[in-house]
Formats: sequence, structure tokens, C-alpha cells
Amino acid sequence: MLKKFIVIGLILAFPAALLADEGMWLPLLLQRKEADMKAKGMRISAKDIYDANNASFKDAVMLFGGGCTGEFVSEKGLVLTNHHCGYSYIVSHSTVERDYLTNGFWSNSQAEELPCKGLSVTLLVYMEDVTAKVLKGVEPTMTEQERKAMIKKNIDEVEMAAVKGTHYNASIEPFYYGNQYFMYVNEIFTDVRLVGAPPSNIGKFGGDTDNWMYPRHTGDFSVFRVYADKDNKPAAYSKDNVPYKPKKHLNISLKGVKEGDFTFVFGYPGTTQQFLTSYAVNQIQNYEDPARIKLRTARLDIYNAAMNQSPEQRLRYASQVAGIANGWKKWQGEVKGLKRLDAINRKKEFEKNFTIWANVIEQRKEKYGGLLADFEKTYNEMMYDNSEYLYLTEALLTSDFMKNTRALVSLIEEKDSAKYKKNIDIFYNNLTHYFNNDYERHRKVDKAIFINAMAIFYNDFGKGYYDSWKQWVDKDFKGDINKMLDYVYEQSYITNPKKALEMLDKYKDPNKDRKKLSISPATTLYVPLMTKFNNDEKRKNYAALNSKLDSLYRIYVEGIMESNSGKDFYPDANLTLRVTYGNVKSFNPRNGVTYLPYTTIDGIMQKENPDIYDYVVEPRLKELYNKKDYGRYANEKGELPVTFIASNHTTGGNSGSPVMDADGNLIGLNFDRNWEGTMSDIMYDPDYCRNISLDIRYCLFIIDKFAGATRLIDEMTIVK
Ligand code: ARG
Ligand code: GLU
Repeated sequence: MLKKFIVIGLILAFPAALLADEGMWLPLLLQRKEADMKAKGMRISAKDIYDANNASFKDAVMLFGGGCTGEFVSEKGLVLTNHHCGYSYIVSHSTVERDYLTNGFWSNSQAEELPCKGLSVTLLVYMEDVTAKVLKGVEPTMTEQERKAMIKKNIDEVEMAAVKGTHYNASIEPFYYGNQYFMYVNEIFTDVRLVGAPPSNIGKFGGDTDNWMYPRHTGDFSVFRVYADKDNKPAAYSKDNVPYKPKKHLNISLKGVKEGDFTFVFGYPGTTQQFLTSYAVNQIQNYEDPARIKLRTARLDIYNAAMNQSPEQRLRYASQVAGIANGWKKWQGEVKGLKRLDAINRKKEFEKNFTIWANVIEQRKEKYGGLLADFEKTYNEMMYDNSEYLYLTEALLTSDFMKNTRALVSLIEEKDSAKYKKNIDIFYNNLTHYFNNDYERHRKVDKAIFINAMAIFYNDFGKGYYDSWKQWVDKDFKGDINKMLDYVYEQSYITNPKKALEMLDKYKDPNKDRKKLSISPATTLYVPLMTKFNNDEKRKNYAALNSKLDSLYRIYVEGIMESNSGKDFYPDANLTLRVTYGNVKSFNPRNGVTYLPYTTIDGIMQKENPDIYDYVVEPRLKELYNKKDYGRYANEKGELPVTFIASNHTTGGNSGSPVMDADGNLIGLNFDRNWEGTMSDIMYDPDYCRNISLDIRYCLFIIDKFAGATRLIDEMTIVK
């Protein structure tokens, strides 16, 4: 008997075996990890990292915008983050004549720092376990809906009480699928200015070809500054604002790291899903990722061709394409990684054992015994809904044509006359602006995006989606979907500047028969598609199924933890502040190949190719290289390090995160993961998963030697 239990205990080990360096830990509970961190080489304490009452590293780390991390590196609110995190702001300040994206931007004084509309940074004041308060009054007998309502009411109350009389914001987030809740009390700053950025061929060297890859040579950083009012409090942009004085900024070490050295990363990882069942992984690996990749390949081919045609087009599509390409490539790595790990079967094996474990005791059987069968049923029922949603976002709504049509339709449907009048004016102005911006050229690109994406939609998913679509294609276009889409694009007034503005002008009076605005092939295509999506019989249960999944996972994760008691689980990433730690580590991506732990500027010169945009090397950089003029930024071998890899468990959102050494000094900026390890969002593999960091010495070398922005270096605290 005893033997049997031991065996079951052993095989029940959760597949991502929590070996080595997996885990993204809550700063508040970091004490629990302190011993292990020290054993791996850390020389500071958990309290140095997070301390609610005294200045600690957490006061130097911020959520940058809505999905990156940044850190203070001076007492004057100077911030470092990635180039790709500052990208859209750099683009927004760029024109073809004054192209900061291509040429870089370096302000010479605070007066020259550029305000960034829409950019905010969020600082954590403190966090708190509020599980008991949030679950107060929640009974196991409640329906999922009752439970949700009770939780929402509790959350609202607790959040409100926490920030009463302060300028803080509070948000309570669920962990372990609602088995635990933490509250985050934050301070949000909205006057954030661009201070400096390297030229694209440094900040994005290697472009999308090198993205997610190692060996890497990207100088992926940009510099910002947070401004506050004269009381050091958040304030909307004003020229009277002054640099924010953070409670703590990070010291920078130029010592660098070598194989085996301890490092930790402190930042805002976005999403991981370690607890997914085999059914979910199957859908991601075999259906969702492949469909998204296919749809994005079509779009990327079109944008890339346009971007190679002119500098105007390169600038126009740069930011958008970076986003599309990023997911596109990550999913390819993810599918490969999941297959290599045999993730589905490993999950299945675990699930089988989980059910055996559950059935040993009557009470457990009741709670957990039927879970996996329920999961299977629910995921099967959701398959259709998920793909419908996927094609909506990755196909239907990707062209400006369809986005404008959507805006038009909501305009026509507006019942309130005053609102209609206001909205049609706004739409008219937006379109005027849109048509004045190199429209003839853009129109060709947008048309191709529309036709390609919609043709895939039709062939993969849409043919029988709503009957009249297929009938239309068959009857008027002999079954040729491309011809039909071409017709729709060409014959819709919204793609014809003169006609579009005339029409809007003609029907801007709310009392006129504005239904006439909807007589267009664009709406004939779009409206039934959206109506179908919104009222799809097959989708009716979507909300119910999702809420069912929520409750299944909550119970499942509770069971996993119960069956693995003694194991220290970490909650999935959810864009809250986390610490992850590991060691600098080389690895073998494939047979016969080892990736060394760091790269140098020599690799940039090896990759140089004047004929390929992404591999053009800045002449000034070459000059410094030829002179070996690296100053104090060279390592002990006289090389200039560019990036390094370590076994820290990171994900999207960790971009820009400070990478720190055993003494808590800043040694790098996290900016990527290696391609072979991108399945770590679902299943981590210590042999294959590495984070890629920009070596802080290359970053400072570019600021100092390349750009001559010594005023910024002077602000920083550099320890040798
Ligand atoms: N892969 C990195 C991340 O997930 C960098 C993305 C930006 N770079 C790019 N070439 N698109 O965000
Ligand atoms: N580049 C990612 C980001 O923007 C980080 C890479 C990853 O996904 O780990 O957050």
C-alpha cells in the first residue's frame, strides 16, 4: 500500500518539473526563495529587492507603458528600457526629414526631451495578500455567476478603501485561477519624455531576422525621463514639471558576468500558462498557432515588400510590422518547442495520474474525479468559437478598409442625432487626414492585405460561414473569391477619397436618410459577417463556456497543489511585478552546436551586409570598432560585449527589465528569449530556455562613445 502511494506521489510530479530556474516569484513572498537565491550566488537579501517600508529595488522598477518594463538609473528620473518598447514613441516623433527612428535621437538638455503622448509608467507602492477579503462570503455552493458577483463587490470595496484620500490607484488581481488574490497599490506618472534612442541599425540591428534568436547583436535600448510636479507627485504634462526623484535608482556595474554567475530579473512578465491541460495545448499547437502564422505570413509579405520600396513606407509600417512579425515568429518557435518536448503527451500522462490520484479517496473523487473529462468536453465545444474569434481578429479586422467600414457602420447605427453629427465630423476629419497621407500608394498595400487575409478566411473558415457569402461569390464571380474581394474593394466608396468625402458630406445632416450611406459592397460584406459573429448560434454559449473553464481551472490547480504538497508553485505571469533568477549559461540548441554565453561587437561586424537593411552597420560604430575605442566598456579581454544569455524564466512584458548581478547592480536589460525556448510560456525546459539581455556596457558605450551623450552618463551611478 505504502509503496503504491509513493509511486503515485512520484509520477504525479507536475510536468514542468519545477527544476532549476523555472519560476516567476512574487516580490512580497520572496523571503521563501532567499535561501535558494543565495545558494545560487546572490549576495543581497530578499528585503533589498522588496520592502514596503524602506527604499528597495522595487522603487526603481516600473511598468513601462502597457506591456514593458523600465528602471530608474539616476536620481533625476532617468529611465532605461528597450528600443522596441520605446519604438512607437520614437516613430511618433519621426518624419522622413527628421527621422529619429533611422538616425537616432539624442537630446542635449532636459529642455530638448520630447513629451510622449499616451505614455505612462506605473510604480508599485506596495502589494498585499487580500485573498481572505476578496473571498469573504463566497460559498462553495454558489453558482459561478454568484461567486463572480460577490468577488467583484468585495474587490471594488477593498480597492476603494485602499486608495481613499490618496493619489494612488489600486488593482486586485487573481492568482492561480482565483485561488488567491493580491492587491497592487500603484502610482502612475503620465509625463514621460523621450531622452535618447540609438539609430535603428543599432537599436534593431538584425531586425526581424534575428528577432527571438541567439547569437544576438541588438543594441535594444532607449532612454526616457519621468517628470513630476514640484511636490514630486504625478502630473499631466506641463513645461513646469521637473524630473521625478525616485526613492531608489539602480547602480550600474561594468564588471559584467561570466558563465555560471548569478543574475536576477525584476519586471512585469505578461502571460504564462503552465497549468493548461493537454486539450488546450493541443488546440494551441495544432490549430491556433498554425492558423495565426499562416494569416500573418500573408500580411507580412505584403508589408515587407512595401517597406523595401521607399523610406516613407518603411516608416509608415515599421511599428505595426514589428508587432505582427513578433508574434508570428514566436508562435513558430513555440510549436516547435512544444513538439520537441512532447508536451501534449506529457500533459496527458500527468492528467491520467491526476485522475488516478483523485479517485483514491471518495472526497477527492467527488471534487476532482470528473475534471479532466469536463475539460475535454468544454475545449471541444470551444474549438469553433476560438477559431471564429481568431479569424475575426487576424483576418477580417486587419485592413484599414474593414476598420473604416466598421467605423462607418457604427456611425450609421448611431441613434442620437447630436452624437451622430459629432461623430460624422470626426470621421470626416480622420478620413481626410488618412486620404492625404500618401493614400494612392497605401491603397495598394491595404487592398492586398484585405484580399489576402479575407481569401484565407473564406477558404479556411468562411465558405459556409454565412450562406449568402458563398452564394454571392458563386453567382457573381464564378466561385472566385479573389475576384469578389477585388470588386468589393474597388466599388466601395470608402476606398475612393473623392466619393467617400462627398457621401459623408451629403449625409452629415442627421435628419437626412443616412441609411443610404450603407449602400455599398463594403457593408454588404461586412455587416452580415459581424452580425453572424455577434449572434452566432454556435457561439451562444461562449461566455458560459469560458466561465466554466475558469471554474474548472480553479479547482484543477487547487488539486494540483494539493497533490504536490510541499512543492513551491509560482503563479502564472499576469503583468504583475515578479522576480526570476538563474545563472549565466551557455546551451546546446541542436546537435553539435553550443551557444556561448555572450556576444561581442565582432559579431556585428561579421553580420554586416550593406545590401540588407537589417544588417547595415552605422559608419560611426565601425570607426569606433576599427580604433578599438571601447574605453572602460571593454571586458578584461579587451572585447566589447553586446549581449548575454542566462537561465532566467522570462516572458513578453519582461522587455526592458533590469538584469542584476549577485550584488544587485544593473548589468543588463532583458529584451528577448531564444527561439528554441519560446514554449516556456506553456512548458519550461531548463535545457532550452534562456533569456537574452543587452549587456549594460554596450548600452553605455553607445550613449557615451557613440552618441557623446555624456550628460546622461554623468547622472548615472557607476560602480566599478
Ligand atoms: N522578441 C522581442 C519581444 O518579444 C522583441 C520584439 C521587437 N523586435 C522585433 N524585431 N520585432 O518583444
Ligand atoms: N521581447 C519581449 C518583450 O517585449 C521579451 C521576450 C520574451 O517574450 O521573453 O517583453
